[in-house]
Amino acid sequence: MIRETILTTMNSKGDVHMAPFGITVEEDDLVIAPFRPSRTLDNLMDNPHAVVNYTDDVQVFAGCLTHRRHWKTRPAVKVPGVILQQALAHTEVRVTKIDEDEKRPRLHCEPVYNEMHSPFQGFNRAQSSVVEAAILISRLEIIPLEQVEGEITYLSSAVEKTAGPHELKAWEWLMDYLEEFKAHSSKRPGMGFMK
Ligand SMILES: Cc1cc2nc3c(=O)[nH]c(=O)nc-3n(C[C@H](O)[C@H](O)[C@H](O)COP(=O)(O)O)c2cc1C
Repeated sequence: MIRETILTTMNSKGDVHMAPFGITVEEDDLVIAPFRPSRTLDNLMDNPHAVVNYTDDVQVFAGCLTHRRHWKTRPAVKVPGVILQQALAHTEVRVTKIDEDEKRPRLHCEPVYNEMHSPFQGFNRAQSSVVEAAILISRLEIIPLEQVEGEITYLSSAVEKTAGPHELKAWEWLMDYLEEFKAHSSKRPGMGFMK
């Protein structure tokens, strides 16, 4: 099973990096699988610890993908790293084994500390739609644009019906980013936009 989370990593200089990551739950392990190149991977090779943050604040998901990465954090309890302020719960992990791969290595992690902070308030379809749209936006360079737009149209109906102002803002950030991507690719086809 894959849980969609916000992963925080920190290099040995203390520079923090935050990114949405799907974490695979495999028996007692949590597996992080970054596509290269990845700042998350660089940090983990330097300091093999991370914090897996479970949050329903979809602005963090949308924000990290639209150059709004500066969310408040505080120091982790057992590992060199930080906890996202909005985490409902978090798990601090240590990398124990790496399955090397040219494109996407798999980093097996052992949980060393768990903490709950706030209650889960139930599912919300607009929040799920923002997470799905964020995944599409993170893959704009590899998924055909017509497919992205078709899926966005489908997701937008749940946003219209069930979002609060917080989710609407996150959705708006993603849609603005998609428009910028489209404008950029029509002017400079094939030129990298994402990183
Ligand atoms: C919900 C969600 C899950 C994601 N899961 C992964 C993942 O498992 N591996 C990955 O490389 N990128 C994943 N991404 C994309 C990264 O968040 C994004 O590309 C990020 O910038 C990774 O590169 P970085 O480590 O250089 O920041 C995901 C994005 C979203 C919205």
